[in-house]
Amino acid sequence: MRVVLLGPPGAGKGTQAKGIANAYAIPHISTGDLFRENLKNKTPLGVKAQSYMDAGKLVPDELVIALVEDRIERDDCKNGYLLDGFPRTVAQAEALKAFNEKMGHPLDFAVNISVPSDILVDRITGRRSCPACGATYHIRYNAPKTEGICDNDGTALIQRDDDKPETVKTRIDVYEEESAPLVGYYDKLGKLVTIDGTQSPAEVAEAIKVALGGAR
Ligand code: AP5
Ligand code: ZN
Repeated sequence: MRVVLLGPPGAGKGTQAKGIANAYAIPHISTGDLFRENLKNKTPLGVKAQSYMDAGKLVPDELVIALVEDRIERDDCKNGYLLDGFPRTVAQAEALKAFNEKMGHPLDFAVNISVPSDILVDRITGRRSCPACGATYHIRYNAPKTEGICDNDGTALIQRDDDKPETVKTRIDVYEEESAPLVGYYDKLGKLVTIDGTQSPAEVAEAIKVALGGAR
């Protein structure tokens, strides 16, 4: 199963990704997580990406496309993958299509998690992440058992640098301009599935399961 997850910042892509990846036994590949990992390790790619991410802008296509192709060429993607946060531009989608055609494995679904922008700001500014295990929480909608502490490992939760209110607005604007056209792009290809992302996380998960054929 080859799936891409579309949706604005804060739509719940990361929240849903683990469940889908587990259900289909495919790797969850988040370009945002890959960039944050590179940034933490101060790799040349991380250094190049940092200024774009801090400003809430997209990292240039050529860097992202090379990163993703390198990742999905690996053995663990033989039976598929779940891409979270990629593609984000039509150029990235075209590159993925060409890559899949070359490998002889077409994309199965583009799952679009749809959420209006007034809800997104509240979700993103309330998000807290665990720097140790990557788990994400929300101060109200998905709070940890102890305030500010990861349930899994007791680590103090942090706020992502790009989750500050001033950067969030830019990220939403960039989504509207550069990434929203992908909804029409995948609709034309007959791959689009749209899910109402304003429901609870469990309801969103169920709707995705049904849309992908109920195979879990
Ligand atoms: P990335 O990490 O991909 O960020 P994003 O797309 O902005 O997505 P988010 O992680 O903010 O949101 P999400 O949809 O995963 O929401 P979540 O599940 O956490 O990218 C970061 C940066 O990297 C980009 O700005 C760019 O610079 C660069 N980048 C990455 N990919 C790139 C690419 N392809 N091209 C160029 N540049 C790229 O949920 C959000 C919050 O809401 C959480 O607190 C959660 O608990 C809560 N929540 C989730 N679901 C629900 C629900 N149903 N009800 C209530 N609350 C909910
Ligand atoms: Zn943790």
